Amino acid sequence: MFKVLLCFLALSSIDYGYGLAEFGANESLPVVMWHGMGDTCCFSFSLGSFRTFLIDILGSNTYVKSIRIGNNVVEDYESGYFVHPNKQIDDACHQIASDPKLKNGYNAIGFSQGSQFLRAVAQRCPEPRINNLISLGGQHQGVFGLPNCPSLSSKTCDKFRKMLNYAAYTSWLQSYLVQATYWHNPLKEEIYRKSSTFLADINNELTINQTYVENLKKLNKFVLVKFSNDTIVQPIDTEWFQFYTPNQDKVIQPFAESNAVKNLGLNDLVASNKIVFLETVGNHLKFTTKWFKANILPYLNGDI
Ligand SMILES: *[C@@H]1O[C@H](CO)[C@@H](O)[C@H](O)[C@H]1NC(C)=O
Ligand SMILES: *[C@@H]1O[C@H](CO)[C@@H](O)[C@H](O)[C@H]1NC(C)=O
Ligand SMILES: *[C@@H]1O[C@H](CO)[C@@H](O)[C@H](O)[C@H]1NC(C)=O
Repeated sequence: MFKVLLCFLALSSIDYGYGLAEFGANESLPVVMWHGMGDTCCFSFSLGSFRTFLIDILGSNTYVKSIRIGNNVVEDYESGYFVHPNKQIDDACHQIASDPKLKNGYNAIGFSQGSQFLRAVAQRCPEPRINNLISLGGQHQGVFGLPNCPSLSSKTCDKFRKMLNYAAYTSWLQSYLVQATYWHNPLKEEIYRKSSTFLADINNELTINQTYVENLKKLNKFVLVKFSNDTIVQPIDTEWFQFYTPNQDKVIQPFAESNAVKNLGLNDLVASNKIVFLETVGNHLKFTTKWFKANILPYLNGDI
């Protein structure tokens, strides 16, 4: 029914907000994807083939852009660790705003840390508009542990974790290592809020930026996907915008109660049905195309 209505609107060239009239009736909004740590925009075995899959299910006329930071995939890979998120987000905002194919808006899919980066894009750069924002295993309240970090040897991974635990809030690590900027130690909440150079800002935990609240309201849907058997992200609940109750690291605070949720106005978004909580069994980012088609496709093809 909704599809028929969309067809009608498109055929009669009525611009109802994000310019579907400019696309064919059977074409979807463009999609912007942002990869996770240890990955790149375009590896053929990861987002490169995912892009092909999206075009396959959304139609060959659908424009799919994968954010690349830097001049090539090597720089893009390194940026996932060493280019400050604020700089990466500025860069992505510029890439998106200067792409004529995105001028009428787009749907966005974040993979892992790419999810919180795309949320920052929504909050900081509302034009062109994100229609639906899909977060696949994003760490919206940060992490307090990376038990099996991807694409690093277990020894490197272990060193990485130790370093974050001891030095995440030093100014040099905050400016040098991406993962430090969303390291969230619930035993040191005060230090985290004052030192985090990225997450505490986009989560309105240090000061409340009302622009962030207003811009999040512009989303049609914010879809949070949690992987129930995730061994990379700790705690897994951060994928549903939850975190430990402050001053301990066992009990998870109810969604509605955290400062980040309250200060970003997310309880209002829940009340207006804009936040969708999805869970799928499997490890980090391990989903089947069948699951994706059944659960995510409707947010990309204009059904929702
Ligand atoms: C959209 O519909 C037109 C006309 O029916 C058709 O020629 C075109 O191939 C379709 N495009 C897609 C992406 O399905
Ligand atoms: C709030 O966020 C907007 C968008 O990023 C920014 O332009 C503005 O400077 C921020 N305001 C404060 C007080 O930080
Ligand atoms: C995956 O997580 C679900 C939900 O927590 C649990 O019921 C299931 O046993 C887990 N599967 C594996 C293989 O660990």
